[in-house]
Amino acid sequence: MKLWGGRFTKETDALVHNFNASISYDQKFYRQDIKGSIAHVLMLEKQGILTEKEREDIVNGLDGILGDLDANLLLIDGSQEDIHSFVEANLIERIGETGKKLHTGRSRNDQVALDMKLYVRDETVLVNQLLKTLLNELYQLMCKHTDTFMPGFTHLQKAQPVTLAHHLGAYFEMFKRDRGRLCDIYARMNQCPLGAGALAGTTYPLDRDYTAALLDFDGPTFNSMDSVSDRDYIIELLSALSTVMMHLSRFCEEIIIWNTNEYRFVELDDAYSTGSSIMPQKKNPDIAELIRGKTGRVYGALISILTTMKGLPLAYNKDMQEDKELTFDAIDTVKGCIALFTGMLSTMRFCRDTMEASAKNGFTNATDAADYLVNHGVAFRDAHGVIGQLVLICIEKNCSLDALPLDEYKKICPVFEADIYDAISMRTCVEKRNTIGAPGIQAMEAVLKACGEYLGAQNLLDAIHKEDCRKK
Ligand code: ARG
Repeated sequence: MKLWGGRFTKETDALVHNFNASISYDQKFYRQDIKGSIAHVLMLEKQGILTEKEREDIVNGLDGILGDLDANLLLIDGSQEDIHSFVEANLIERIGETGKKLHTGRSRNDQVALDMKLYVRDETVLVNQLLKTLLNELYQLMCKHTDTFMPGFTHLQKAQPVTLAHHLGAYFEMFKRDRGRLCDIYARMNQCPLGAGALAGTTYPLDRDYTAALLDFDGPTFNSMDSVSDRDYIIELLSALSTVMMHLSRFCEEIIIWNTNEYRFVELDDAYSTGSSIMPQKKNPDIAELIRGKTGRVYGALISILTTMKGLPLAYNKDMQEDKELTFDAIDTVKGCIALFTGMLSTMRFCRDTMEASAKNGFTNATDAADYLVNHGVAFRDAHGVIGQLVLICIEKNCSLDALPLDEYKKICPVFEADIYDAISMRTCVEKRNTIGAPGIQAMEAVLKACGEYLGAQNLLDAIHKEDCRKK
């Protein structure tokens, strides 16, 4: 039996039923659906629309459904159109006539808008927590590696020496911004659409402030047409999740490069690598590659929902049902990727010696050699030219700037003295860079202190609904 069967004289075509139905995927938010219904019913009683007994029966019925679904005692089959219809039909089956009053003053349009928002809100909190775990791991590694030297790159060409702590610190900043975006989105979406009805509110004296408060919203939404047709928060979340994936993907790309035979900067743990069916020697970074690969899938979700929404007139249109599968898939994908990435990172071995040796060759100290001349009164542009010539000589002689004899230096520019070698040693190159945000050990320590404080503090999402989400 359809919820809306009254004005129809024929059964729905079977293909139409399947095409139209969303129950195969919207069952994912049955908890949110029931929670929303309970809040609605409490409000209906408070407003005198339901009696105390009716409220009690309905809430008990809904609690029973929730318990049975959680315990797998109640199976969701495909006969109902969506989870809203399923819960209502089951309630009526359990408690009889009173169950038919559940949907008073409500439409599936504001109901689904609420369920999706509650779901997305809960998941935003969970993603925030996963990112915090990743940041904690990064922070531990940064603290360990403030004097692990490695080459910094531009154009994937060795540029200047940095430390591993500094390189990892770049990702710390990215994931920190990602968490900030989640908090912003949460705060912006935190108004309750329940009570908007189909599109134009209802004639019942609903107390929307009350339902909003029961469901931990900051308040009710202000326009009923917008309430049932707003999917901005999904677009914002998918955009933020795409950015998380972009960050993970860049990190994975670096790990894949670092893990090659040519680099050997890192070695992935056996538990996070896979072998080849034909080449016995292989140990492949499949996890990093898969995370990089899944990035496309999350971007796809964002583009898909943007496209779905672009031509929709106000207010609700069935097109909006298409928001679900892709959002669920993107959220699950991102959660899985962050967790896997954190495990891969925490078990990975960093090869300090190889990194340091690599930083030492490739003329990563050329800028510092030019700065030496500047400190001795040579104009930077001239100094740049002098060091360029010296690099050419080194390439010819197949040696580093550190190994080039002083007389070769002096031949090109008499300003050089024996202290040039100290000035361009890798330790000096890094340690001299002590402005805030630079890799110098002192500068890095100040940043690490701030990172530690950041992790010790709670953000908006650490503080909210932690318990609710844990239950899942
Ligand atoms: N399954 C629908 C969706 O996800 C629920 C809302 C149905 N509303 C309607 N007017 N048909 O959007």
